[in-house]
Amino acid sequence: MSVGGNFPLTLRVAGRKVVVVGGGHVATRRALSLVEAGALVTVVSSIISDSLSSAVSRGDINWLQRTYERGDLDGAWLVQTATASPDIDEQVAVDAEASQIWCLKGGDPEKATAWSPAVARIDDVMVAVSGGGDAGRASALRDGVAAALQAGDLPMRHKTHHPEGFVALVGGGPGDPGLLTTRGRRLLAEADVVIIDRLAPHGVLQELAEDVEVIDVGKMPDNHPIPQHEINELLIDRARQGKVVVRLKGGDPYVFGRGGEELIACREAGVHVEVVPGVTSAIAVAAAAGIPVTHRGISRGFTVLTAHDDIVNAPQSAAHTIVLLMGVGRLRTTCIALMAAGNDPETPVAIVESGCTPDQRVTVGTLTTIAGRADAIGARPPAVTIIGGVVTLSPAWQATR
Ligand SMILES: C[S@@+](CC[C@H](N)C(=O)[O-])C[C@H]1O[C@@H](n2cnc3c(N)ncnc32)[C@H](O)[C@@H]1O
Repeated sequence: MSVGGNFPLTLRVAGRKVVVVGGGHVATRRALSLVEAGALVTVVSSIISDSLSSAVSRGDINWLQRTYERGDLDGAWLVQTATASPDIDEQVAVDAEASQIWCLKGGDPEKATAWSPAVARIDDVMVAVSGGGDAGRASALRDGVAAALQAGDLPMRHKTHHPEGFVALVGGGPGDPGLLTTRGRRLLAEADVVIIDRLAPHGVLQELAEDVEVIDVGKMPDNHPIPQHEINELLIDRARQGKVVVRLKGGDPYVFGRGGEELIACREAGVHVEVVPGVTSAIAVAAAAGIPVTHRGISRGFTVLTAHDDIVNAPQSAAHTIVLLMGVGRLRTTCIALMAAGNDPETPVAIVESGCTPDQRVTVGTLTTIAGRADAIGARPPAVTIIGGVVTLSPAWQATR
């Protein structure tokens, strides 16, 4: 491809001599990024910046402490000139032209024979943008493309050269796709296979390419259609086929999500696995109902349990919030156990069903009344139950006073 006499390409500078003439801001940035790319960098300048002199003391850069002289370009593959003197920059450009060395010329794209694009690196993708000679425009465009790549808004899937397969255990948050992390979204944009739970944000599936394999292993309470060991086998099998596998889970993978078991299974099978934390329903669903799990002067801590646990082992006080997951069917037994353990029967309780979704419903009461209210409205999973003084901060509680 050639546009207006320009031909874009990237240079393998590692182990090759590159000369940077100048010691100011532009020269410093260029020299340091060339060092990072493995080039053998010589800087020619009487004065250099602090960053350059640190690189010189580390032995990363060879410094000729004087003004430019003809012959400094001998053996170089590339030169950057960025001095404060247009005459020196011009001389370097002329010498480079005579020696057939590509020349990057700071602030003078017309006379340069090479241009460096604005670059963003996201995972193994490199995006290089030229702004038609306008560096500010190139940087702004580069930032836009980088942000879209970070967010998974652009197709990141490998088409031909494929890295080794791997598994990402991604916390999908409590259901609203807006609560999925940027890292999670990016991995979804790269995924060949998505293995999704019932409470994960199914809305994001619409954004996947048609050929992405989607496996719904959705579990209903007390009904596990795909047993855990089979899910583990699926993850390992697809990764071994060289695929990027996203295991999209509800909330955070490690909060009652069996993420730890999946991690161990993958590791034992020698499959590379990454864990992306998610927004847990234990905190986010309470927040969606206007309940902070801790609040100065009301609650100094919180415990997250499944209601099946021995709840009375948690700190017993209205100043310590208890958040129950998966417990809506056993609410009456739980409340009786808490009162029998000495908790005030008037301790506020909230049930939040389908939190962070358009179907969210909040019901409030006390340890004495909440089970009856839950029965009356037919409360059903998924629901989070919050017990403690912080419930009084919710608009639903305040509406009942
Ligand atoms: C198997 S646990 C998984 C929890 C998840 N790993 C997390 O961090 O949120 C499932 C329980 O999470 C709670 N839950 C998840 N999403 C919810 C939502 N959108 N609204 C209410 N509760 C939710 C319910 O208590 C549900 O029974």
